[in-house]
Amino acid sequence: MPEPAQTYITTPIYYVNDRPHIGHCYTTLLADVTARFYRLLGGQSDAGNGRSQDVFFLTGTDEHADKVVTSAAAHNVTPIQWADKNAEEFKKAFAFMNCSNDDFIRTTEDRHKSKVLEYIRALQKKGDIYLGDYVGWFDESQEEYLTETAAKEASFVSPVTGKPLVKKVEKNYFFKLSAYQAKLQAHFDANPSFVLPEARRNEVLGRFREGLQDIPISRAVTADPTSQWGIKMPDDQSHRIYVWIDALFNYLSVVDTPERQNFWPPTVHYIAKDILWFHAVIWPALLMALDRKLPATVYSHAYWVRDGRKMSKSLGNFVTIEVLQAYASKYSLDALRWYLITQGPQGATDADFSHAKFVEVYNADLANGIGNCASRVSNMIEKYFEGKVPEYQSTWIDRRWETTSADAVPAYLTAAKELDLSAAFEAASSLIKDVDDLISETKPFTLAKDMATNGQEVANILACCAESIRIASIMLAPAMPQKMAELWAAWNCTPDASAPLAELCAFNGPRGIKPGHRIAKGAALFMRADTAEAPPA
Ligand code: MSP
Repeated sequence: MPEPAQTYITTPIYYVNDRPHIGHCYTTLLADVTARFYRLLGGQSDAGNGRSQDVFFLTGTDEHADKVVTSAAAHNVTPIQWADKNAEEFKKAFAFMNCSNDDFIRTTEDRHKSKVLEYIRALQKKGDIYLGDYVGWFDESQEEYLTETAAKEASFVSPVTGKPLVKKVEKNYFFKLSAYQAKLQAHFDANPSFVLPEARRNEVLGRFREGLQDIPISRAVTADPTSQWGIKMPDDQSHRIYVWIDALFNYLSVVDTPERQNFWPPTVHYIAKDILWFHAVIWPALLMALDRKLPATVYSHAYWVRDGRKMSKSLGNFVTIEVLQAYASKYSLDALRWYLITQGPQGATDADFSHAKFVEVYNADLANGIGNCASRVSNMIEKYFEGKVPEYQSTWIDRRWETTSADAVPAYLTAAKELDLSAAFEAASSLIKDVDDLISETKPFTLAKDMATNGQEVANILACCAESIRIASIMLAPAMPQKMAELWAAWNCTPDASAPLAELCAFNGPRGIKPGHRIAKGAALFMRADTAEAPPA
């Protein structure tokens, strides 16, 4: 993927009929880690809040769905009161996850609504909108229209929630989606990473071959009070804009201002597989119609499931915010972030949320990985060199780096730029493993029994280890910003946030750990977890 000068990363905007759960937190976390990675890459990050001017990370809430009205009524409040309450829950959830979003859009805000009207007007002017008759099926739970063929294939129930589809006969405004078939096909052909992962791209292309039909972009305003909720069509108060069209425009409306316009087009829209068609086909066609550039990538991940089953209200098996908070308070928030990012469903297959797996990964990667490795090295530096990095032989440590670890940083960069986050962190973890191997192989603790003979070798080994850990910690920071900041505080090596990643990660370079540098032992970053313990609740 080309490296854009400005990076714009988005998440879906979430429905406010209900509270957030692991799925929403996961997608927003993927976006957060990617945003932190890009800030680091360009040396733009602000050590305080992790934000910068050259990366723009957006999340928010989708509020004009009919189910918001129904849910509000069931709780005896107005739709906007219900939306206010739940939008707050989403904000709190993402703050708890330490997500560094630069803005949070709510579709009920004026700044969004006024732009939506502008876009609809532009589409009308272009001749891409007409009034027609809709006869077909509607999936109320997903707020999604289905063609006769798609409805039949799904046995007339929602493919996502299993609820019966509703037959619709309506007068609607339509968008001429069919007019964009050839242009969209050409875009897919020319941009292999437009939709990732590849399995999802193939899915879209398969459906695409069946041909595109024009789609309704409005719904009638009727006597039913529910139908009052939404943005009215320009110059026609008897129609409101279909919630999906309203929602998709958020990506543009937020940055369509003089100060933010350079962020367009988006680097990546993170979504899950449930809303792929809207993002891979309808949204790009709308953008083409508006003469706007298309996002570089629509990244559609799979689902978190629990005990092999889809999480749903009826099963009552959601991993709730409370469950996530319990994990964070027991194992630390960064351990939770690490588990979600490295074990999550970023690819095409669903991932099971499991306590046993969590503990296994926590012990292997964190307690026995970076945590133990950093303690061992700082303990030895304390014990043999009074807490100061000793005078080492540069040629020795450089050679060691070249022969065993030199590919860790390039592998990390490549994977992260390809948005393969677990592969990126795998590269960072492999560096920690190299340090462990170096210690097991050379046994500095044994050599140190005779410092008069072996002092220089012990110094070389420990300096090499310390410098490798420093580099690994920088690569791990997008996933574990708090824990790495803790390590940097103890090791007195907080990276200069204005320096680019390549410079910070140059082994034994100008920003490397120098002889005489003080490294404090510090508290253990991660305490070992007992595999037999019950899941936190
Ligand atoms: N409001 C629309 C999106 C409009 S975007 C212009 C919507 N909202 S939603 O609240 O239903 O959120 C759907 C998204 O939540 C998924 O695409 C995904 O990002 C996340 N997840 C919801 N459940 C999930 C899992 N079980 N697993 C992983 N992520 C899932 O659709």
